[in-house]
Amino acid sequence: MTDFASLLVPDRGQKARPIHLVDKNSFGGWAKTRPPEDRALLDAHRFDGKTAFALALLPRGGDFEVVSVVRNVDALSPWCLARLAESLPEGTYKLARDDPGKATLGWLLGQHRFDAYRSKKEDPERGARVLITGEAAKIDSAVRLAEATALVRDLVDTPAADLGPDELERAVRQVATELGAQVRATAGEELAKDYPLIAAVGAGAVETRSPRLIELEWGKPEDPRVAIVGKGVCFDTGGLDLKPASGMRIMKKDMGGAAHAIAIARLIIAERLPVRLHVLIAAVENAVSGAAYRPGDIVKSRKGPFVEVDNTDAEGRLVLADALARASEDEPDLIVDFATLTGAARVALGPDLPAMFANDDDLAAAIEEAARDVDDPLWRMPLWDPYDENLKSNVADLANMANNAMAGCIYAALFLRRFVGEKISWAHLDTWAWRDPAKPGRPKGGDALGLRAIFAMLQSRYSRD
Ligand code: BES
Ligand code: ZN
Ligand code: ZN
Repeated sequence: MTDFASLLVPDRGQKARPIHLVDKNSFGGWAKTRPPEDRALLDAHRFDGKTAFALALLPRGGDFEVVSVVRNVDALSPWCLARLAESLPEGTYKLARDDPGKATLGWLLGQHRFDAYRSKKEDPERGARVLITGEAAKIDSAVRLAEATALVRDLVDTPAADLGPDELERAVRQVATELGAQVRATAGEELAKDYPLIAAVGAGAVETRSPRLIELEWGKPEDPRVAIVGKGVCFDTGGLDLKPASGMRIMKKDMGGAAHAIAIARLIIAERLPVRLHVLIAAVENAVSGAAYRPGDIVKSRKGPFVEVDNTDAEGRLVLADALARASEDEPDLIVDFATLTGAARVALGPDLPAMFANDDDLAAAIEEAARDVDDPLWRMPLWDPYDENLKSNVADLANMANNAMAGCIYAALFLRRFVGEKISWAHLDTWAWRDPAKPGRPKGGDALGLRAIFAMLQSRYSRD
């Protein structure tokens, strides 16, 4: 992975090229302070601070200074330096006026590349663009956030052939070994007995890609229990209710929820948040074969209710149901799940906004506030009680789909709610884990959406200071 730590350095008075950030309102005042030759150059480029992204290099004694347009100089967004980090020549830079604050994230991620599958690495000669920041103390956490985001991206971007349940388990074990946590995987007969829905969904996969529940535990027993659950569908063909080609094309990303869960575990442990962490990842491949589960099959869930499979493409909620039931057994203070659960959430909210559901208004408000604070937007959707009865089945206790085509992400969330312990605070993020179209610092492909918001909420809920 990119060595993010080398890209941010504390200010020790070292030589650096200044970056002047200007916006529409500050451009006039700033330009007045510049020497006439700068103003002439900026005029010649019609640089007026009004363009969405503009970058000019001002010659300065054999080197140069940088001027760039941002949306608001008084509230730098995490992404306002991303295009600069992508486009500037190698060297060391420093903001002329401010400390970069949260804009360090875009500086770091603007330099991350997933090039494991490119025989010609992008611009191998290209050196690092280093940013000086005044706040040494914040460097470590900025680097960790960038690493966590890059981890989600890399896991999601890795093709399904190279990232099955086995490799997903390895990714969890790697975090555990690196940071000192316990991992246990339940597979085979034990899975069929203890987690029947996970076993059913994974039944169609070849033996080398067999289903499992991966659990990571960390922390002191006396600290509040927090469970993080992730949907780890390493590829979603739709099963026997096969997806059309267009719907299947990016389904390598259907383990994006698991990637978020792994990344947030890494953040929680690295920051030593005082919680007793329980991560549960339902890792399966939703494959097509003679052994695959079928529409109309009925499975007795871990929690007890019999679930009729109405549609084998609604597999995420099935595997999560058993994982949520297991998480609930320890009566945690909080459960958060991440899942690429429905196309309906994307239809409703588009590519940028994970749908957030919560059974606790205070928790929802805390998540919304954290999301605003760290510029990681999401939108709350309702767990609309009157719809719950539409999850009925003719023959079993419930079905995995409602008998109508509307509000798909609400039905999915209501289905999950049936498996969450009654008095437990729970939030569910129906996230895309994908970026398209690209944005500065966020290339098309796997991406973390909602990760920083949930981590910020956890920090304010559980930090001792
Ligand atoms: N993994 C998909 C959801 C998905 C699709 C997420 C496209 C992001 C983009 C999920 O397993 C699925 O197929 N859901 C179905 C549910 C339906 C059969 C009730 C869906 O959303 O169409
Ligand atoms: Zn599906
Ligand atoms: Zn899926």
